[in-house]
Amino acid sequence: MCGIVGATGRPDVAELLVEGLERLEYRGYDSAGIVLAVEGALWRTRAADGTRSVAALRELVGSAPGPAVTGIGHTRWATHGAPSVENAHPLYDCFGRVAVVHNGIIENHAEIQSSLERSGHAMVSATDTEVIAHLVEDKMATGLPLAEAVRHALLVVRGSFAVAVVSVEEPELLVAARRNTPLVLGRSDGASLLASDIPALLGRTEQLFVLADDQVAELRPGSIRVTSLAGAELDPPALSVDWDLAAAQKGGFEDFMSKEMREQPRAVADTLLDRWTPDGSLTLDELCMTEDELAQLTRVYLVACGSSYHAGLVAKFAIEQWAAIPAEVEIASEFRYRNPVLDPKALAVGVSQSGESLDTLLALREARARGARVLGVTNVVDSSIAREADAVLYTRAGPEICVAATKTLLAQIVALELLALTLAQVRKTRSASEIAAAVDALTRLPAGIDEVLARAKEVDQVAESLAGASDFFYLGRNLGYPVALEGALKLKELSYLHAEGYPAGELKHGPIALIEPGTVVVGIATRNPLWEKFQSNVQEVRSRGATVVLVANDGDEAAAALADHVLWVPESDPLLAPVLDIVPLQLFAYRLARLRNLDVDRPRNLAKTVTVE
Ligand code: G6P
Repeated sequence: MCGIVGATGRPDVAELLVEGLERLEYRGYDSAGIVLAVEGALWRTRAADGTRSVAALRELVGSAPGPAVTGIGHTRWATHGAPSVENAHPLYDCFGRVAVVHNGIIENHAEIQSSLERSGHAMVSATDTEVIAHLVEDKMATGLPLAEAVRHALLVVRGSFAVAVVSVEEPELLVAARRNTPLVLGRSDGASLLASDIPALLGRTEQLFVLADDQVAELRPGSIRVTSLAGAELDPPALSVDWDLAAAQKGGFEDFMSKEMREQPRAVADTLLDRWTPDGSLTLDELCMTEDELAQLTRVYLVACGSSYHAGLVAKFAIEQWAAIPAEVEIASEFRYRNPVLDPKALAVGVSQSGESLDTLLALREARARGARVLGVTNVVDSSIAREADAVLYTRAGPEICVAATKTLLAQIVALELLALTLAQVRKTRSASEIAAAVDALTRLPAGIDEVLARAKEVDQVAESLAGASDFFYLGRNLGYPVALEGALKLKELSYLHAEGYPAGELKHGPIALIEPGTVVVGIATRNPLWEKFQSNVQEVRSRGATVVLVANDGDEAAAALADHVLWVPESDPLLAPVLDIVPLQLFAYRLARLRNLDVDRPRNLAKTVTVE
């Protein structure tokens, strides 16, 4: 996830771009850059200074030559290519006459790059974006004007994009387009503007328009023309927005948690993108291990803390069932102190959204010292864990601001499922058609998450009816167990209510003594191999007076008959079900916290990134 801005027709264009990037910084800050069209040339400046990138850019922009009326800017959240100045946008064509900023992923960039290189183009960055600048260069070389050249270039690319392009040939023109990634346009007296979202434009323009997928916009000072990618003239409706800036940065949501829960379908879809071939076979080149090395692994250790540990628990099932390799899930702060026995045929996987949790980092260091191969699964490019690991599998959830993990957790689960399927493919423990079927089921998850999110009001009603409760037991078996742990953790973190996650079969060995009228039992009752045994466990708590809330598959009347309240979710492959089952529990914990007037984004005593042991 990156932020883009653009403006034409404003004498203060450089200042406007930097201010826009400051407002978009939450979308990423691995690097920042702008290009201005100045007196027959493009002038570019870029900075890659971690969290200070936009601030560093502001200092550099002080030396911009004037006058310029057109420019584009970008703040980057790195996916392809390290966070460096060379990979910072805007990116140029061969001659620095076309500049591009991009948010999204060009899935077929490798293919396009090879073909461009064969015809003499030289790429200077490791990004997927640079090919767009060279494609536009190629099209302009055939005599096409900039807007036509962009349109033709985009017909060649697959994937997601919000792009803005400028060229020295038409210095007052900005060309923009989008597919599956947001882009907002603004028009005011004598100027036209664009940005990844509304906050960057607030207070700058009276008229806003949202560009739709596969539309192209030509922005000139004070005028905007919108066409389809095929060139048909369009008339986008203007938008009326009454957000204040603070609300706008949350995209109109009341808090970051709501926004980030809403972003989960995209986080999962982006994490899956570009990771298999059209026939459904996996291509996780990021693992940096040969097929032989992968085939010879004898054990996988998943090491993590907090919600990331729960992602590891889900992955254990997938790795053992699909790939038939023993998998251990380890609390990072315990792992390194118990003298783990490891060898080069062991793979230690550090799962961490921030890539900075010290316990996980040190556990991986210990694993490497003891001979294991080390893989990081993280959401932050170039984080400490990414640098420490032999290889990195990135989740692509975009920045997560709310302290409690939501979208990063779901992205971790699907990334680890991809790892499990890759191992199954290499070790031939699953047939090609079984793997293709699992890949197909993964691609259906974003729509399933959307469906669950659309039922938030029903979850709210259940939470409201339980607002007076103070003890919650979350029970599950098999793949329901990690979901129960995550549900309980979310409730603790957000609402400060007492909640315990427990394997339901173990309840009879002690905790059942705590069940009494008034205790709420939240059961994960979606279909898995232990569903019938789980039913008996629910009967045991019902008969002791617990109020029972079940997460159950749509239409499951047997579950409904056991419960006081049901949180419905669509059915999916049991190994993937946690991705859907966790969502109503996030909504449930969120609502109970809001009913208690708590700050859901910043719960007491917690931190988003924990860099102490
Ligand atoms: C903190 C956060 C949790 C997170 C855990 C692990 O405790 O509050 O939400 O799950 O750290 O973080 P990591 O960045 O390693 O996934």
